[in-house]
Amino acid sequence: MRVGVFDSGIGGLTVVKSLLEQKLFKEIIYFGDTARVPYGVKDKNTIVRYAVEALEFFKNFDIDILIIACNTVSAYALDKLQADADIPVVGVINPGVIALKNGVKDKDANILVIGTKATVKSKAYETQLFEDGYKNIISIPTGLFVPVVEEGIFEGAVLDSVMDFYFKDLNSIDAVILGCTHFPLIQDKIQAYLGGAKVIHSGDAIVEYLQKNYHCDKNFEKTKVQFFASDNPDGLKNVASDWLKGLIDE
Ligand code: DGL
Repeated sequence: MRVGVFDSGIGGLTVVKSLLEQKLFKEIIYFGDTARVPYGVKDKNTIVRYAVEALEFFKNFDIDILIIACNTVSAYALDKLQADADIPVVGVINPGVIALKNGVKDKDANILVIGTKATVKSKAYETQLFEDGYKNIISIPTGLFVPVVEEGIFEGAVLDSVMDFYFKDLNSIDAVILGCTHFPLIQDKIQAYLGGAKVIHSGDAIVEYLQKNYHCDKNFEKTKVQFFASDNPDGLKNVASDWLKGLIDE
């Protein structure tokens, strides 16, 4: 199986990490739209247009399935991409909701959804969770975490003050959905700040979803990964070497 992974930039490498750890695919083609990131502050029409252009990019590669690692694109453009593509296109939101449902049975649990401005505005997670009977959902746009992570800040005073800024008034959160590609890199800090809340991670959620729905269970010994970016591809490759150390050839 050859998979395409699309993200607005480097963040989707967290999803690639989960795919590599579970050895799901023989080949991964990653495309990050680094020239136009961030998507999370743009409006729907722009996000859909960019996503459709990314689909064109993947037409050069004969992929079997396309994964939309970006929550923002999954929230706004998944239907359009599924309609336009002749291969399966899978986003991260539905798998995230399923992972939450599997992990949190109490419908009165306090669930926090964090993501970009656009993802939170779409109410994509909230709508599905309300439909599934969860009553207490708080959604907060936490876009400042994106540049913080891109700056390589995974701990310390800057991260602590951003967490204070967003989370200081929250009480007894039972579970948090990391609705943005970048957040898994600071997941331990977020979890600790929120008093040990259960964490839902898009990468792990999509692995489970693919194993269940697409029979991705071959356990490939080695995965070939190719990285593409619309700007500064070497920068993306450097981040990949760092975040995916030990999982890809240098
Ligand atoms: N990849 C985006 C997401 O998961 C975050 C970065 C952006 O705003 O483009 O929503």
